[in-house]
Amino acid sequence: MIQLDHISVDFPQGKQPGARAVDNVSLHIKRGEIYGIVGASGAGKSTLLRTINLLQRPSTGDVIVNGVRVSELSGSGLRRQRQKIGMIFQHFNLMFTRTVAANVAFSLRAAGKSSADIASRVPEILALVGLTDKATAFPAQLSGGQKQRVGIARAIANQPEVLLCDEPTSALDLETSASILTLLKEINLRLGITIVLISHEMTVIKTICDRVAVMTGGKVVEEGAVFDIFATPQHEFTRQLVSHTFNLELPPRLMQDLRGTLLKILFVGASAEQPVLSDVATRFGVSVNILHGKIEYIGHRALGLLVALLTHPSQPEQVALAVAYIQENTARVEVLHG
Ligand SMILES: Nc1ncnc2c1ncn2[C@@H]1O[C@H](COP(=O)(O)OP(=O)(O)OP(=O)(O)O)[C@@H](O)[C@H]1O
Ligand SMILES: [Mg+2]
Repeated sequence: MIQLDHISVDFPQGKQPGARAVDNVSLHIKRGEIYGIVGASGAGKSTLLRTINLLQRPSTGDVIVNGVRVSELSGSGLRRQRQKIGMIFQHFNLMFTRTVAANVAFSLRAAGKSSADIASRVPEILALVGLTDKATAFPAQLSGGQKQRVGIARAIANQPEVLLCDEPTSALDLETSASILTLLKEINLRLGITIVLISHEMTVIKTICDRVAVMTGGKVVEEGAVFDIFATPQHEFTRQLVSHTFNLELPPRLMQDLRGTLLKILFVGASAEQPVLSDVATRFGVSVNILHGKIEYIGHRALGLLVALLTHPSQPEQVALAVAYIQENTARVEVLHG
């Protein structure tokens, strides 16, 4: 559906070459999926996203959306293409002097819809995003979540094939953020719109994305199914992102006084339900003290991380055997201490 082929974007400064914001990125986003782009501030996410509707022209490389080579379009061809691609933003970018209904009507009018079409379509779209009772309100009278709903209504008014979302929930509290993500998922399922979503938070990606690309320094360093990226991150930057999400740091004081072998254990899918830890207690006579733990559900699959301390009162070699057994029966084991 969306093919980015060796995209680079340079921002020359005067006659100097300047910074390369996007560096040779190739991605293929499938029809109907929700594709995430995650990375730290300045990684080049927004610049990359904006090449998809040519708000940013790539310095080199090709953008192909639904068979159309967007990077070669200009003038009316480009305007027509942009109508097939909706976009929403972190700070909503609404017209603050117009009502909610007028904000939505504006994008229909820009696409050349007749007044009769607009009159029937606006209430339909407002109902879809849950804002029927706010049609005559002004943006300043709305909460952040409601403003983003207007942003979404405006972006999907012309039935686009693609919706680009640049940090759509970064300005919202957790609960509102969740409701906006739910709405985006509904739109994706009900209207079949392909969604590309930028976030700096893995939790957002985890909640709705099917696949994700990890960006740092203008490059995509890793790409794949969200579950796999969480379960087996390859790149150091991705590992850090994922471990922030799990947030399984132990207090330093506790680490100082530890006696025994401290393990961080990853359970994937079926193994998340297997009683591996109680097994080692009976088989090897070790005692297992769980200090920290979390199970994440991504899609319908479980991903568990546990931090456990293994000790044996008299035979430390039993601990080594227990560690080997856990290694055999779980997805990944990291020895943190001992
Ligand atoms: N119009 C511009 N002119 C010059 N430099 C730019 C321009 N837009 C972006 N950059 C630079 O390109 C790099 C990538 O910026 P970009 O906005 O794409 O990052 P980002 O990943 O979206 O960051 P954030 O999470 O903060 O939004 C940055 O170093 C930025 O300063
Ligand atoms: Mg950005």
